[in-house]
Amino acid sequence: MGETNKEKLRFGIIGYGFMGHTHGRTLQQLDDAEWTAVCEIDEHQLTGIPENVKIYRDMDQLLADENVDVVIISVPNHIHLETVVKAARAGKDILCEKPAALSVKEFDEMMAVVKECGVKFTVHQQRRWDKDFRKAKAVYDGQSLGDIYTVQSMLYGFNGNMHDWHIYPQYGGGMLYDWGVHLLDQMVWMVGSPVKSVYADVRNVINKDVDDYFKIILRFENGVTGEVELGTYFLCDKENWFERHWFIGGNKGSAYIDGFMPEGKIVRTTRLLTNVPGEITMTAGGPTRSFGPPAEGLIVTEPLPDVKTEQIMYFDNFIKGIRGEEEFVVKPEEVRTILCIMEAVRESSRTCKAVELKP
Ligand SMILES: NC(=O)c1ccc[n+]([C@@H]2O[C@H](COP(=O)([O-])OP(=O)(O)OC[C@H]3O[C@@H](n4cnc5c(N)ncnc54)[C@H](O)[C@@H]3O)[C@@H](O)[C@H]2O)c1
Repeated sequence: MGETNKEKLRFGIIGYGFMGHTHGRTLQQLDDAEWTAVCEIDEHQLTGIPENVKIYRDMDQLLADENVDVVIISVPNHIHLETVVKAARAGKDILCEKPAALSVKEFDEMMAVVKECGVKFTVHQQRRWDKDFRKAKAVYDGQSLGDIYTVQSMLYGFNGNMHDWHIYPQYGGGMLYDWGVHLLDQMVWMVGSPVKSVYADVRNVINKDVDDYFKIILRFENGVTGEVELGTYFLCDKENWFERHWFIGGNKGSAYIDGFMPEGKIVRTTRLLTNVPGEITMTAGGPTRSFGPPAEGLIVTEPLPDVKTEQIMYFDNFIKGIRGEEEFVVKPEEVRTILCIMEAVRESSRTCKAVELKP
């Protein structure tokens, strides 16, 4: 197991594709980390590796390397289980890419070995440090919107091209495993209350075998309804419409947050809107009392809270977690909860019924 002293932690990366390259670049920026080894089966991927990093073509050999304390597992999803089990048995601490496993059963299997071997384990849910998310979370935590009834998290694109193993179910492809796991993890961590039930619509819009659209409705015990929607083929030419959106609604106000480099506002009322006398206004949709513009002076806006965050901060916590100085922010039991929700999502979509989650 990795030494828990102030020496640099020595990292090995298993799977040096898109995400493996990202991890390699990150490790080179961290003062407390030394990148000592990498394992990749495809020689075409072996680019941009510093000279002092040992290259392996077989993960068993990397796992036998005593100059590796911690492994980052960034192989395709279907071999996470096998790789985590091998790494744990080799006594390495583990950072596994998301989704940690393809099912709750697989996750339980890997965690049993992790526990038996006494190694540390967490999952790369680094989108808990995304700026749009942290702004939404700061609004939620700030309690300025009154009783929150809805939190909506949306990601839309028209060029969400899926590729390589991501288009095959047997490799853990599809958008639910790819992005769904992040969007659900953010939502559940933010709301911080058990999920009572799940209703979902998961579709293969243009992909034959894997999902590329989903809408998920989570009912939380604290009364909040969380809605997560992802569409990879939302064809729309409105400028700045794509990307990321949040909407949070409470009985004293709401907030909208748009974009990964977020813009938005908190919008509140100067008094509660219940029992405001219904004035008839003419709109393009016809005369209305409920959907007209707000009366003058009724709405005040505030800027979104400032947040200091970037994804690399995930690794501050990871390294402190390995050294026993902090708990991992991303805890295995939370990872398991998201996998349970993802199974309920698929069941709900298949049966067209809400699925209750057992406490
Ligand atoms: N956290 C995030 O934001 C994020 C983003 C993208 C991908 N990911 C995750 O990272 C993982 C990898 O995804 P990717 O997009 O980088 O895929 P990728 O196909 O680009 O890279 C995977 C690499 O693993 C290699 N590989 C396969 N079997 C191997 C083995 N037995 N030993 C060594 N190397 C092996 C492949 O040759 C490939 O180069 C997935 O679990 C994915 O979900 C996470």
